[in-house]
Amino acid sequence: MQNAIGVFDSGLGGLSVLNSAATLLPNEQFIYVADSLHAPFGNKSDEFILKRCQVICEFLIKQNVKCILLACNTATLACVVTLRAQFDVPIVAIEPGLKPAVIKSQTKKILMLATQSTLQSNNYQSLRNTHASDCEIFEQACNGWVELVESGHSLLETNNLNLKVIKQYLSDIPKNGIDQIVLGCTHYPFLKPLIIKCIKQSQYENNISIVDTSNAVANHLKTILLTHKLLKPNVKHSIKQLTLYSSALKVDENLLNSLCQLSVDFKGQFES
Ligand code: DGL
Repeated sequence: MQNAIGVFDSGLGGLSVLNSAATLLPNEQFIYVADSLHAPFGNKSDEFILKRCQVICEFLIKQNVKCILLACNTATLACVVTLRAQFDVPIVAIEPGLKPAVIKSQTKKILMLATQSTLQSNNYQSLRNTHASDCEIFEQACNGWVELVESGHSLLETNNLNLKVIKQYLSDIPKNGIDQIVLGCTHYPFLKPLIIKCIKQSQYENNISIVDTSNAVANHLKTILLTHKLLKPNVKHSIKQLTLYSSALKVDENLLNSLCQLSVDFKGQFES
């Protein structure tokens, strides 16, 4: 496929970013790689994550992509600098939305939900030092949330077991005066209905905003395509199909269709 945009994540979470990008850029073709065999990245070392990202970028470049959208906060913080130095195509990458949360916060108390690896990374610490030195940041690694999305169980919104998995990390909010919750992992936007339900159940009336940077990243992607003269001109019919590869042998088609706004053409494993 000529001149598509390559998108990847540890699994299917990056489809939350892909949905925003495809809505904003309806003329563009996208190839998505889910490294589902190696998900989650959030409990792996930087070296492991870098190796996986290198394999995926090489594969995407072989597919002639014109640009790569790194739809994984964990990988951005672990290795995007190295990837940008190694590969010639522009790489647009998502990072936890601390900056917009700081701008919006009245209470100056923010809850950052992300993976263990993200929260422990030096790059996250410097993001925090640069943008949030006047705020109190509560950090929470949400072990189990990625698996909830990948398993498809999160689609059963009213299921009490799901609510329990979500609630365990949100129970301190009423005491803390937090008014911004940052979804610092691309899997978490798919859990938004459950997160909202938990907040409502805690009867916490303070106005809490949920910060999800998918749209901001899609806008940034558009700017980069324009800057590099890579944006596709308008065509009559928008592209409604996504080409998807995985490192896993199988993907659940029902799950794919519920997570992705485009119809998905699953091509199989991208490496043997
Ligand atoms: N969705 C990814 C992120 O944004 C990675 C989650 C994981 O695999 O642990 O961080």
